[in-house]
Amino acid sequence: MLNHQYDLLDFGRNEKLECIGGVVVRRETPSAPGGKASSVDWGQARLRGKVAGDKYSWDGIAPADWRFDAGDFQLQLKPTPSGQVGVFPEQSVNWEWIKRCPADLAGLKAINLFGYTGATTLSLANRGAQVVHVDAAKSVVSWARANAQTSGLADSPIRWMVEDALTFVRRELKRGNKYDIIVADPPSFGRGPKGERWKLQRDLFHLIESLSELSRGRCKMVLLSCHTPGVDHRQLKSEVESQFHFEAGTGESFALELRTKENKSLPSGNCFRWVAD
Ligand SMILES: C[S@@+](CC[C@H](N)C(=O)[O-])C[C@H]1O[C@@H](n2cnc3c(N)ncnc32)[C@H](O)[C@@H]1O
Repeated sequence: MLNHQYDLLDFGRNEKLECIGGVVVRRETPSAPGGKASSVDWGQARLRGKVAGDKYSWDGIAPADWRFDAGDFQLQLKPTPSGQVGVFPEQSVNWEWIKRCPADLAGLKAINLFGYTGATTLSLANRGAQVVHVDAAKSVVSWARANAQTSGLADSPIRWMVEDALTFVRRELKRGNKYDIIVADPPSFGRGPKGERWKLQRDLFHLIESLSELSRGRCKMVLLSCHTPGVDHRQLKSEVESQFHFEAGTGESFALELRTKENKSLPSGNCFRWVAD
């Protein structure tokens, strides 16, 4: 699926070396344990990201038309003060799952919370789902919208919402709105547009509970992932299954990861997904 759009070249000592959309990027990350491979030239990076206080600083200049071509959609890339560049490639297994899933998603109502630059929203739109894309950051929602345009999906039925995820879900419940497809990729900590605080360890259970209510009686697909240390996929699975009363379907949970050519695995979060038969 990634068609050489992404290669993890090496990682270690809290840094990653990656080739993303043809550009070699070296960046600090607290979650890259172990040592570096002696065979890899870390000096080849065109962009270098370093933690500076609670922000990121970048050395080097990214190409103006830097893009990640996922085949069915395109993501514009750029270095940001959060240390991200606009794509989480470990999610590509889920884009592929959506693309290949045998269920007919056309016309189904989907909600994608913490949707970032829109990769999963665009995967769902490509299958004909009507998606409500929710993220707290206005700039990121504009970026996702631009990605829809670049991907030829500007006229797809996508609603772009700059909202606090939990507040939006509670409001939808009050309005009596329901969804067939539930997607959420919450960060460990976050803030809504009005300063609402998101803390995964405290709020995840309430979110899952509300999402089960939001899709009661019509749930066709659930995709929940997170990157928080201490939350593993078995825990996600048991929390989701205890709230959602799934009927016939297939569910699975697994650790997300990225791998180097040498088969070194970089843990990159956890995931639960379920689809109705
Ligand atoms: C881990 S990223 C999601 C990655 C995305 N699912 C993907 O694969 O491209 C987390 C996103 O959550 C958003 N966010 C943080 N706090 C939020 C909140 N309280 N409500 C809504 N979105 C929030 C951030 O702006 C960020 O875009």
